[in-house]
Amino acid sequence: MEKKINVGLIGLGTVGSGVFKTLKDFEFIEVKKAAVRDITKKRNIEGLDASILTDNPYEIVNSPDIDIVAELIGGVEPAFDLIAAALKNGKHVVTANKELLAKRGYELFKIAGECNKVILYEAAIAGGIPLIMPLKTILAGNKIDRIDAIVNGTTNYILTRMDVEGASYQDVLKDAQKLGYAEANPESDVEGFDAAYKIATLATITFKKRIKIEKIYREGITKIRTKDMKVANDLGYKIKLIASGKIYENGRADVRVHPMLVPKKSTLAHIDYVTNAVSLTGHPVGSITLSGPGAGEFPTASSVVGDILAISAELGTSDYILPMMRCHHGTDADMVDISETQNKYYLSINANNNIGVIGKIGTICAENNISLASIVQKCVSDDNTADITVITEIANEKAMQNAVKLLEKSGYKVNSLIRVQV
Ligand code: NAP
Ligand code: HSE
Repeated sequence: MEKKINVGLIGLGTVGSGVFKTLKDFEFIEVKKAAVRDITKKRNIEGLDASILTDNPYEIVNSPDIDIVAELIGGVEPAFDLIAAALKNGKHVVTANKELLAKRGYELFKIAGECNKVILYEAAIAGGIPLIMPLKTILAGNKIDRIDAIVNGTTNYILTRMDVEGASYQDVLKDAQKLGYAEANPESDVEGFDAAYKIATLATITFKKRIKIEKIYREGITKIRTKDMKVANDLGYKIKLIASGKIYENGRADVRVHPMLVPKKSTLAHIDYVTNAVSLTGHPVGSITLSGPGAGEFPTASSVVGDILAISAELGTSDYILPMMRCHHGTDADMVDISETQNKYYLSINANNNIGVIGKIGTICAENNISLASIVQKCVSDDNTADITVITEIANEKAMQNAVKLLEKSGYKVNSLIRVQV
């Protein structure tokens, strides 16, 4: 008979519930204890025996009966302390906590190494998409130098519904919260923090250099207007929140999160609603895209349960931790600052409909060494102003920001500045 594996769940919210329900199908796994904040809360979880609930998660990490701890509460503390204690007490850990990994993963993996234990975190990046294990196993022979990804389900869901239905940002955000996609504090999603946490860890594994979260340039989706989406559509683009990473020949890394106009012919333009996708480009594989549900109860549970099963299969077989379960951070990456980057830009400018307004935009851009790919003014409003749409050729970020300042000084209103994917 197979040995029973005892699991302790810390957190029984969206993800924890899905994990509990999924683990019921595995007879050799028993959820011994589950920690929650409020043990009196009504939970719609079939088969949950209230006697396994505790509001003290240290009962789980200190219990000699538990083999694997799944941390599913989120946030930095007490999650860091709980995981560190679990590792020191001889338990393997599974987590879905991207914020913790991005901010303090380095310390936790060090503790795990010292304790000869593992931390697996497939669910932390792009929910249900198998990504970390493929990178550490079947893709290990590649030198991947570019990542283009949609890794936040909430923002992709919001942007898609704004685009398809012209829905309001606030209404759609409420729906994303009801569906269990959003973080406890949805600012983390809409301001791009969540995507930045994910790309920090993903780029660290992919480029084998530590990408520090504080060095990642980040912009969210709160300034995106339905007006921009319509114009982008007419020009052959979709607007998406893109997490990207590039590592150059000289070893410098450019890792960032911001909205982008993505050409409709690109794969990422067709990734809609809660679906996430990660495109990886390298040698010898070429370019591949992994896609699937990026958030929600069961897709995320799929990844957490996969990690629990992977550890279960190894438990008791030997003291040697499989290399694919380890985490090597290597050295710190030398990060490129956003001001040094080269991008193509979309600008939406509002101006008084005077003689020479378009010419002046061209002059300011030219003075900053910015070449224009297109400039369009469709009509004039009743107030005698006009919206002018500009797409530039590839230009320097610092020069572009300078041109925006000069345009505003000259009386133009730059309503949107969004980078364009090339
Ligand atoms: P959630 O629905 O808010 O659930 C959090 C759970 O943790 C609740 O059961 C809560 O207890 C419990 N909890 C919070 N603080 C606690 C504490 N100090 N001690 C004991 N229990 C505590 O969150 P979630 O959406 O499941 O997310 C959990 C983690 O998974 C986060 O790191 C999140 O970023 C990550 N994640 C989420 C998704 C997703 O689609 N939601 C996808 C991938 C990764 P009560 O039930 O009593 O309030
Ligand atoms: N809030 C996250 C998202 C959950 O919307 O992608 C999955 O990590």
